[in-house]
Amino acid sequence: MSLHRRYLPLILLSIGTRLVPAAAHDHHGEGIPEGEAVSPDPLDSILWIHIFTMISAFGIIFPFGMVLGIVRSRWHVPVQVLGTALAVLGWLLGHAHKGRQFAPNIHAAFATSLMSMLALQVGLGIYLKLHLEKGWHGVIRRHMVRLHGIVGKVMPVVSWTQMLFGGITAMGFCRADHQGQCLAHFIMGSSFIGYGMIMVIMLFAGQAWLKRTGKSQEFWDSLVITVWVTEHRWGQEWVHNDIQHTTMGVVWWCAGLLGLWLSRGNNRQPKRNLIPGIVIFLTGYAMSAHPQHLPLSTMVHTVFGYTLMAAGLTRVIEIAFVLRDKATLDGEPNSFQHMTPFLLFASGFIFMCATEEQLALVSSIGIDHVSYLLVLYSVAFLTYLFTMILVHTYISNPRDVKHVPPAVAAERGMNGHADRRVHDAEEFELEGLISEDEEEGNKRE
Ligand code: HEM
Ligand code: HEM
Repeated sequence: MSLHRRYLPLILLSIGTRLVPAAAHDHHGEGIPEGEAVSPDPLDSILWIHIFTMISAFGIIFPFGMVLGIVRSRWHVPVQVLGTALAVLGWLLGHAHKGRQFAPNIHAAFATSLMSMLALQVGLGIYLKLHLEKGWHGVIRRHMVRLHGIVGKVMPVVSWTQMLFGGITAMGFCRADHQGQCLAHFIMGSSFIGYGMIMVIMLFAGQAWLKRTGKSQEFWDSLVITVWVTEHRWGQEWVHNDIQHTTMGVVWWCAGLLGLWLSRGNNRQPKRNLIPGIVIFLTGYAMSAHPQHLPLSTMVHTVFGYTLMAAGLTRVIEIAFVLRDKATLDGEPNSFQHMTPFLLFASGFIFMCATEEQLALVSSIGIDHVSYLLVLYSVAFLTYLFTMILVHTYISNPRDVKHVPPAVAAERGMNGHADRRVHDAEEFELEGLISEDEEEGNKRE
């Protein structure tokens, strides 16, 4: 046992250095029937552990650590180190699997980009952690922080893509004629989820930024709607769906222009409007009406359409009746304001899981549309929960630790969650006792 332990690092190292490059190129192609992308074997447990560790590292730990980095929490480094350890383990396992074999695939090809980004982040992170701030290091450090920040925020998006690639590779989906459809579903589905995330961020943390831009939220929404070019055709014959796609592009452009116009009031002040909500509604209506081959497919598309239409409708109600055209409510957001972003999440997941191949598989296993949709709604609930945890972590940590005198910072610790509550309580107790002058003085500190 102890011998085993002593040599464990060596064994791991030899797996890492020898097995990896060899296996990466040897195992492709064996046992895969002619014209297929995968062999008929099941996924082996090594690959399942790969999937589990990679989703934990890139889907949960790194995004959470990213937020901790942005708020300069002392937990940033430990969390990202844990994520890195898991990612390295997952990387070794991804190369070492047996079981189902795969033809050369986009997931394997794209992995290098993401792993290089991670290596860069770790390298930059170690440099930053050394806190070399004297002389030329001072100048370089500033650029390094910026680079580490930008790459850190791009990483979750790239990770999302790589996880989707992993899913389609595992199933052998999205090849040949299916490629265009996969692209459409994954890009549009991800966009709905991304839009939902932006809405949540705007709801809780984006108002100061919005104010600085001097525009209403619908100005930015309408701008995106106007310039969005709908994906299209990939050089095939025009069919019924293509005409619908094109007219949808036209309606987005027309509606976007009106939305831009309505984003300004009489005195050029930013003004809210209902156009983006109406565009979401129309998109739901149009996309759910695409003719489908399977009964399951028809049902899933119909519910997708209802969900997206509901997202548009709730947005209209929120702006017109809950906010009454104001940018934001005083205090915490109203519970109704979660409706649109959540429904965008739900419609995004349904749409991403509604390609012909996926639905044919679900149908062949005998899963009915109700169960399938409930599973997808569950995924949306969990992802929304995770998004809320990230947003909460961000808003409940003071970012300006740097401006607090070092002694106070040390006493508080870098992670200001508990301290924020103390701070709030103090402020509450002192309210009314402090004269205006003193308050001004405090603010300037
Ligand atoms: C594992 C090694 C890592 C170390 C040692 C590390 C270290 C650091 C340090 C010291 C800072 C604070 C910079 C300052 O003093 O201003 C920081 C900030 C940050 N880190 Fe990391 N980091 C690591 C990995 C990562 C990863 C993997 C990500 C992304 C997923 C990430 C995202 C960020 C972000 C977004 C910031 C804030 C930058 C800004 O505000 O512009 N870090 N990191
Ligand atoms: C963002 C996180 C992930 C990263 C960085 C990653 C990375 C990798 C790497 C480096 C390989 C080895 C590729 C090769 O043989 O050259 C691999 C293989 C594989 N991964 Fe992932 N992976 C991730 C997530 C996932 C997920 C979520 C799934 C499935 C749901 C998945 C499914 C697979 C499959 C099926 C293979 C075998 C491909 C082959 O043998 O060619 N991966 N992955």
